[in-house]
Amino acid sequence: MSTSPLPDNATATTSPAPETFSQIVRATTAERHSAAEHSSFMTDLMKGDLNAAAYTRLLAQYEFIYEALETVAAEFRRAGHPLTQAFDHPGLDRLDSIRADLRQLAGEDHETEPLPSTARYADRIRATVDTPERFLAHHYLRYLGDLSGGQAVAALMARHYEVPSEGLSMYRFPELPKPKVFKDQYRVLLDEAPFTQEQRDAFLEEAIAGFDLNAEVFADLEKVTSPSAAS
Ligand code: HEM
Repeated sequence: MSTSPLPDNATATTSPAPETFSQIVRATTAERHSAAEHSSFMTDLMKGDLNAAAYTRLLAQYEFIYEALETVAAEFRRAGHPLTQAFDHPGLDRLDSIRADLRQLAGEDHETEPLPSTARYADRIRATVDTPERFLAHHYLRYLGDLSGGQAVAALMARHYEVPSEGLSMYRFPELPKPKVFKDQYRVLLDEAPFTQEQRDAFLEEAIAGFDLNAEVFADLEKVTSPSAAS
């Protein structure tokens, strides 16, 4: 007989320490992240099977997405919203660098229409103007994504397609500390933000919707990047 006050199977049944909110977010969205990351368009782009024009088409869609995100961000900034303030870092803003990259890669007067999924994504972001926790889910998705997989995207676009450094400024964050340090700090902010349970649930729901919308944009891009459209 065991002399321990715990049952013999205690190790198997003891629940792990409660997860932090940022860990819950990461775990809850892991499958969606993986689906977006492994979409055909992204896989082909990252493998070197497409071309600089395909990357430029993706970047052109980002312009609409970040325009929506940074318009809403500016609203919260202006209002000095207590929930969003801690996350607000002007060094994150990407719209100017996306536009500069587009000028490099697509020329001064390129014109692009948003794909249907891009329009839905931008609308969804704009609709968060009254729900800071939902806005923050998009903020988290885009900026932590750019600081994570985005760094690999930049390296591979340069390597596979010789995209020049002047066309990849959206992945440079000169005003931030090292990406890893910033991401760790950001996760602490998520853990310590005074979200109610309803707000946490809404954040998670929005993050999932955001990943799905990214996957939809990649699927739409794949359609316009058929082998004949790739050149
Ligand atoms: C080629 C596509 C992608 C690749 C290769 C990729 C890769 C990665 C990697 C390796 C990490 C982990 C970094 C770390 O632990 O520090 C990461 C994190 C992340 N990615 Fe992606 N990713 C891709 C697409 C996306 C997309 C489309 C989004 C959403 C817009 C996204 C959002 C995120 C977020 C929010 C994190 C941070 C997770 C956290 O630690 O809380 N990623 N990505």
